[in-house]
Amino acid sequence: RKKVTIQGLHALRSSKTPISMITAYDYPTALACSSSSLTDITLVGDSLAQVALGYTSTTQLTLDEMIHHIKAVSRGTTHPFLVADMPFGTYNESLEETVRNAVRMVREGGVEGVKMEGGVEIVDVVRKLTQVGIPVMGHVGLLPQRHAALSGYRVQGRSVDGARKIVQDALALQDAGAFSMVLEAIPKELANYVTEKLRIPTIGIGAGPGTSGQVLVIDDIMGTWSGHKAKFVRRFADLKSVRDIGVQHYNEAVRDGSFPDPTSESYSMDPTEWTKFL
Ligand code: KIV
Ligand code: NA
Repeated sequence: RKKVTIQGLHALRSSKTPISMITAYDYPTALACSSSSLTDITLVGDSLAQVALGYTSTTQLTLDEMIHHIKAVSRGTTHPFLVADMPFGTYNESLEETVRNAVRMVREGGVEGVKMEGGVEIVDVVRKLTQVGIPVMGHVGLLPQRHAALSGYRVQGRSVDGARKIVQDALALQDAGAFSMVLEAIPKELANYVTEKLRIPTIGIGAGPGTSGQVLVIDDIMGTWSGHKAKFVRRFADLKSVRDIGVQHYNEAVRDGSFPDPTSESYSMDPTEWTKFL
């Protein structure tokens, strides 16, 4: 498949073809995303913090750590459009600082777009990056980088005021130039409403089937994540049990001496050479 572009993503939205986005954190997961011609976007999500680095929150992730992982994902990415999250605290200080950080993600990491969480309060930053030529994906609804301020990871926009705020935020981000938007953990009715109001693609996670596309964390798809499983997660494989069985069988074979096989899994010395050596 040819490289997916923003124009291509808009065409998918227009034809009501659901857009498929998957997260990746390193070279092997990038190859996994690229292995299917149906993957439209590979996202280096800052869920990297928990899923690949063992932190308890995305707020612990640094820009240098993110760039290190983007580089690996970039090396394994073929046709999917490549987007990465701007880590917590890297797009709030000033426009100059934000541009510098986003430019590093593009120049050093090789991403084609950046994603950032927030609404009306970040429109200046979205507009600035768009003007510089860095495509921005918005992210509204549940904002994991603000889990402390939001008192946990909870569904957003269930009240009239909450729903109005999300619509306002989404429209403001679109006006500021966002090329697409993640809607996380909001009621499906609201997600459908926002999707109809906008002229850019919405990518839902926990937002029901009516958005322009879907995104899931690759470890949730593959069943390798052993932490909390959200309501909106569907496991499409059970790699964790396969993986752990492989480790156990290897260990047993080492312990009982059956690995390695002396013939098929070992090298031999030529007998005459070995006699001379002795
Ligand atoms: O960090 C992440 O993985 C994300 C997606 C799940 C939207 O932001
Ligand atoms: Na994220």
